[in-house]
Amino acid sequence: MNLSSLDWAAVTRLREIFLEGGPQRRAYWTSPADLHAYDLTLGERIGWKWDAVLAELTAAGWKPPAGPLVDFGCGSGVAGRRVIAAFGAGQFSALRLHDRSGLAESFALGRARELFPDLPGSVLGAAELEGDGPLGTMVISHVLSEMAERDRAQLVRFVRRATAVLWVEPGTHADSRALIAVREALRGEFEVIAPCTHCEACGLLAPERAADWCHFFGRPPWEIFTDPNWSEFAQRLGVDLRSLPFSFLVLQRRSEGAASSPATGLSRTLGRARVYKGYAKIFACDAGGVGEVMLQKRDAPEHYKALKDGESPPLQRWRREGDRVRPL
Ligand SMILES: C[S@@+](CC[C@H](N)C(=O)[O-])C[C@H]1O[C@@H](n2cnc3c(N)ncnc32)[C@H](O)[C@@H]1O
Repeated sequence: MNLSSLDWAAVTRLREIFLEGGPQRRAYWTSPADLHAYDLTLGERIGWKWDAVLAELTAAGWKPPAGPLVDFGCGSGVAGRRVIAAFGAGQFSALRLHDRSGLAESFALGRARELFPDLPGSVLGAAELEGDGPLGTMVISHVLSEMAERDRAQLVRFVRRATAVLWVEPGTHADSRALIAVREALRGEFEVIAPCTHCEACGLLAPERAADWCHFFGRPPWEIFTDPNWSEFAQRLGVDLRSLPFSFLVLQRRSEGAASSPATGLSRTLGRARVYKGYAKIFACDAGGVGEVMLQKRDAPEHYKALKDGESPPLQRWRREGDRVRPL
């Protein structure tokens, strides 16, 4: 990445807007240069979160139903592009881009055409979006926190017309809880593909779990830690490049022949395991609920080491003895 000609003032201004959060009253993209600067920096970091989600989905053999791909709130279009790259342009009949900013739609369309020249791309205007036709697979990324309650409700109505949705948000308590609310609203019509290992009510809705949230950590590519451009980015914006928390949700409409989640019956680790001398505590989610379990180093030394190195897979099949677990 070469950031020497980057508009740092634009990236800084955008970052401040995102940190402030809350419903944005007007579009904040002021020029294609804003979108270009975002795409190379903040957008690329979001791309790494998508890489984590898509690696898991493709490893499990899941793919979205054939048909159009709609990137809602596309910004510079990074999320839609990552999804197309992961499943192949041939999986989709078209890319439809929607944003309240026309500048964003044009930028995202241009980038997609450069990368996927054979995939028909077009803007999805408000009139068509608000109609009642089917929408195909929807991609939604880092939009919820800037939407007012009314707009969120409308977005859920759009998703009801989708065959599948892939949705990634920042890994904050508020964003995770907002995604859980979406999951609860839609799980009657949709199969929950990920991150859940079951389709029952979310275990985090138990009153004693109110302070917890469903989040994970992406892994930036190792090269960035020796790249002077990324060091400059981190310094200028005060960003810790190692930390990439996100929440996500993948749903597929039941009438689309969705099989149950590839992770059904497994246990998912939420957040990061806490590793102590000789044992680790894991916040685990499965059909039985969400709670802390303990893994003893002597029961599973390799798994303990993977947890310590931050390399243990997010899904596990445990043998449980009370709170104590051993990987199967
Ligand atoms: C933080 S950016 C994320 C962009 C992109 N999805 C990504 O992940 O990089 C949020 C985008 O959502 C758009 N947006 C916010 N509220 C919207 C709404 N009600 N309808 C359509 N787009 C909206 C903004 O214009 C902006 O492009």
